[in-house]
Amino acid sequence: MSGIVQAARVAPKKIIIDCDPGIDDALAITLAHGSPELDIVGITTVGGNVDLAYTTDNALRLREFLGLPEVPITAGSEGALLRSRVNAAGVHGDLGLGEARLPEATLPVRAGHAADFIIETLKAAPGEITLVAIGPLTNIALALLKEPRIVGWAREFAILGGSYTRGNFSPAAEFNIAADPEAAAIVFGAGWTVTMIGLDVSRQALAVGKVVDRMRGMGRLGTDLLVPCVEFYGMVTAEEGPAIHDACAIAYLIDPTLIAVEPAVVEVETAGRFTSGMTVTHFDLGDRVPNALVGTTLDVPRFWDLVLGVYEDVARRIGVV
Ligand code: RIB
Ligand code: CA
Repeated sequence: MSGIVQAARVAPKKIIIDCDPGIDDALAITLAHGSPELDIVGITTVGGNVDLAYTTDNALRLREFLGLPEVPITAGSEGALLRSRVNAAGVHGDLGLGEARLPEATLPVRAGHAADFIIETLKAAPGEITLVAIGPLTNIALALLKEPRIVGWAREFAILGGSYTRGNFSPAAEFNIAADPEAAAIVFGAGWTVTMIGLDVSRQALAVGKVVDRMRGMGRLGTDLLVPCVEFYGMVTAEEGPAIHDACAIAYLIDPTLIAVEPAVVEVETAGRFTSGMTVTHFDLGDRVPNALVGTTLDVPRFWDLVLGVYEDVARRIGVV
């Protein structure tokens, strides 16, 4: 015995990612794929940053670029339950991945609707799969309306979304919630605990100059995906850079110690003229039962150590040319 006790390797956490790629969605999926702590068992897409056709095409392209052919990708809802479409093409580009142009996908999207995939997959493995949503919550709400029992079948449920301070779609609301407030209200009212990684956390995850410099040294992953995405996403200087929001939700699933969370009651505003989509967050519970664990602080140095270390592993796998 060398005296070095091998850490017992726990089985990777199985996850379904519901997303709207989207620049930060792409970085989040890359992080999830590269992490030995996670096993992506499915990806579902929703209209959000750009139209469903583009979010789905981006997911299909990313799947092959990263070498994930066995992961099923199922498309879901084009738009919100009740509201007219909004998008963030001004932030992510018309095609949704900034200046990145990944090779066309050769493998098809899985037939069926994302909500049914979520229901069927969670039902087949109750208590084993974590559901993480990093786009508008329409698919999740539809799954809940069709089969409320997914609340008990999901191992855990986390989102990138919301804010207990200020929004980014409006002063009050974060984009993923504002895009479909009725869906978000259904999700937060479903009876499970929502781990809400919101802007309060993700605005700390800034891809500043030294981060992007490391990405430049990551071969095809850097030149074909990471750098053209991040440099489109926002101005990069020594101190400033775009926040890679969605990756924070994935990082939390990899290592929950990266983000401090507090129990809270979160209610979604659906009627406010100026506050629609606001996640009204009550940290002072009183006698109320919390429906959420809300992220408050990010361990920024450890976050980037994790993210860039995983990206370098992925870069080695996909090669330099
Ligand atoms: O507010 C940030 C969120 O909105 C991220 O999920 C980003 O991809 C956009 O969908
Ligand atoms: Ca997203």
